Amino acid sequence: MKQATLHQLKVFEAVARHRSFTRAAEELFLTQPTVSMQVKQLAKAVGLPLFEQIGKRLYLTAAGRELLATCQEIFEELSRFEIAVADLKGLKQGYLRLAVITTAKYVIPRLLGPFCQRYPGIDVSLKVTNHEHILERLTDNQDDLYILSQPPEDFDVSSHPFVENPLVVLAPRHHPLAQKKNIPLKRLAEEPFIMREPGSGTRKAVQKLFDEHGVSVKVKLELGSNEAIKQAIAGGLGISVLSRHTLALEGTTSQLTILDVEDFPIQRYWYVVYPTGKQLSVIARTFFEYLLNEGKEIAQTTLQSIF
Ligand code: PGA
Repeated sequence: MKQATLHQLKVFEAVARHRSFTRAAEELFLTQPTVSMQVKQLAKAVGLPLFEQIGKRLYLTAAGRELLATCQEIFEELSRFEIAVADLKGLKQGYLRLAVITTAKYVIPRLLGPFCQRYPGIDVSLKVTNHEHILERLTDNQDDLYILSQPPEDFDVSSHPFVENPLVVLAPRHHPLAQKKNIPLKRLAEEPFIMREPGSGTRKAVQKLFDEHGVSVKVKLELGSNEAIKQAIAGGLGISVLSRHTLALEGTTSQLTILDVEDFPIQRYWYVVYPTGKQLSVIARTFFEYLLNEGKEIAQTTLQSIF
């Protein structure tokens, strides 16, 4: 094992976690032959095969399982060491990895501004994707912190309510229903509807409400982006349900309006989430506290200022 390198262990751990050479290569920005070669050399150093391929699936051998457990201990120790070093450096530099659902992108970058000014040595990566992909990243432990609307029930996480995330019905500003009060939910079935893509948390919440009330809307268009949906509404293609946060920069001259429909807004919350037992780095912990204190207030004030 003396010839094994830390890099090889990292490559092996990624392959074992994904059960795939291809996905490990993607995650590590390496080519697949490089990944295979690193694992091969590691197996040679161990003296036993680490994986076996049965059909299309990749399995760990007994030696592979032992090595994976050892790798996890090594990486945990290293992360503890990094935390200790970051403490010694007084949070001067480091990396913060965030993954947030698409609606949170209207808020989190604004909150990062003051935070990064306070700690200029911190580099941030912010992944913005839908509910389903956030859950995948969470399960794979790819980021420090996650923001999502519905914390998973089948995975042990620590989740903290952050800010309200009301879902509202949006229509073009001059829509015939724009001035009406308490529009019956069933009335929406007569309008062409624009829906988010499968895997979206917004879509799930909207579908649940419609199903509970036996309302079946005519989905005219399916789009994977809140911004594209806003443009489509403004272009007269139909109405939709989106987070109120998506209107953050609209101002009073917006071409969109919120319809007053019964059972709306759908009341939801954003949560700050991380896997239970995860050792948060000093930076992640500092940002977590910032979010739940100052960040919460800024986000809530911004939400209230939306027309
Ligand atoms: P989405 O998430 O981007 O997957 O729609 C938003 C939410 O769950 O509130």
